[in-house]
Amino acid sequence: AGGGHIERKGHQASSPERLCHTVQKRNRILRDMKHYSRAIVITGGAGFIGSHVVRLFVNKYPDYHIINIDKLTYAGNLANLDDIKDKPNYTFLKADICDFETILQTLRRYDVDGIIHLAAESHVDRSIKDPFTFARTNVMGTLSMLQAAKIFWESQKEQWKMSRVNADGDEVCTECRFYHISTDEVYGALELTDPQGIETPFSTKASSAHHHTYGQEFFTEETKYQPHSPYSASKASSDHFVRAFHDTYGMPTIVTNCSNNYGPYQFPEKLIPLFINNIRHRKPLPVYGTGENVRDWLYVEDHARAIDLIFHKGKVADTYNIGGFNEWKNIDIIKVLIATTDRLLGREEGADNDLITFVTDRKGHDMRYAIDSRKLQRELGWEPSLQFEEGIEKTVKWYLEHQDWLDNVTSGDYQKYYEKMYGV
Ligand code: NAD
Ligand code: DAU
Repeated sequence: AGGGHIERKGHQASSPERLCHTVQKRNRILRDMKHYSRAIVITGGAGFIGSHVVRLFVNKYPDYHIINIDKLTYAGNLANLDDIKDKPNYTFLKADICDFETILQTLRRYDVDGIIHLAAESHVDRSIKDPFTFARTNVMGTLSMLQAAKIFWESQKEQWKMSRVNADGDEVCTECRFYHISTDEVYGALELTDPQGIETPFSTKASSAHHHTYGQEFFTEETKYQPHSPYSASKASSDHFVRAFHDTYGMPTIVTNCSNNYGPYQFPEKLIPLFINNIRHRKPLPVYGTGENVRDWLYVEDHARAIDLIFHKGKVADTYNIGGFNEWKNIDIIKVLIATTDRLLGREEGADNDLITFVTDRKGHDMRYAIDSRKLQRELGWEPSLQFEEGIEKTVKWYLEHQDWLDNVTSGDYQKYYEKMYGV
């Protein structure tokens, strides 16, 4: 694993008599000789959020076989998973989610009973320049995943169920699950009005010590879809396909819509890592428009924890919003980044404030995102674990201590390596 081709690790032979009732099922199980209680495909596992989800699942569930399918685009970086790449329950497959035959073959080969689908083109600015790539990966790629899952799972004796023999030799039966990771951007944009919205409902005070809301309205699970950018339009379309597969074929699907994530391993095209790196190197900080736009920030490991909880306990066909009740104007978060970075580098307070450079606004720039995640809190008991001030301190520290990681992704060296390894 990690070497870029499918490796079979830690598989054991089991006695065929105990395995299953049908010849087809017995042959499949004998061929794969698995002893895991579940086999889960995570797509986009070499990206930012995906790598945190893969790490969490591989470490927390040694009895699950985690298969990471990633095309390794510019945003996919196997160095994000260096610490778990040799674990016996981890397999990496370099593949494009649009490659339907390979996906179907992989689901069959590993008897996959769960899919957590994160692979996507994720950067709004890129979608404005090149919408076709977003439609291809986010819409057609999701459809390819859905159709492959449908064909494979329908071929099972009991639809949408999978039985296998675990390490103890017991037959276990699991409900299949297609879990699609989406974004709050599908809901469009909220207005910026007087700060008088919902108080943070979290007992851990996980939002910010300076908790603020910038309007009365929030995105709930009932908010109608109104995407504005090609990125959010492609994500909205993929969400509709996922729900259509439930409504038409009965596929056990779940969709979640999360707010802006921050934390280690985010590609430095996104605001937070880009700006930390620029502050360090005393490069200009390009603030779009007036910097008044508001985003709701969540530490990436808290998103990964929510995904774990919802994958296991979420209601089929349901939708959950995930967010930190942690709204920040871009300009304010940028000031926090400057102050934190300068302090950690031992620079004089405010030394780098003059790096702030107002530039032409992003086309169609959404004004405010604010997620109401109370349903997830109420129904499944999820809360963020980190207060924003702790999360941002950890994050800035991580980027400052991992300049080699930043240099590697900004220089494109890792892509040259993949070209050599995989010939693409
Ligand atoms: P990312 O850009 O960091 O990673 C995307 C991953 O998908 C990369 O590893 C890339 O190689 C892979 N990929 C892209 N095209 C592929 C293809 N055709 N086949 C296989 N793999 C492919 O993205 P991220 O920020 O980690 O976001 C992950 C998911 O979460 C996306 O679906 C995104 O829409 C969603 N999301 C992101 C945020 C956020 O703040 N970053 C918030 C809410 C939801
Ligand atoms: O809300 C969830 C979404 O958050 C995810 O679905 C997307 O995948 C993710 O990229 C993110 O989208 P944003 O567009 O909000 O993130 P980004 O980091 O690109 O920008 C955050 C804000 O900062 C936004 O208002 C634009 C602004 N910005 C961004 C960059 C890169 C700047 O002012 N200057 C910049 O250079």
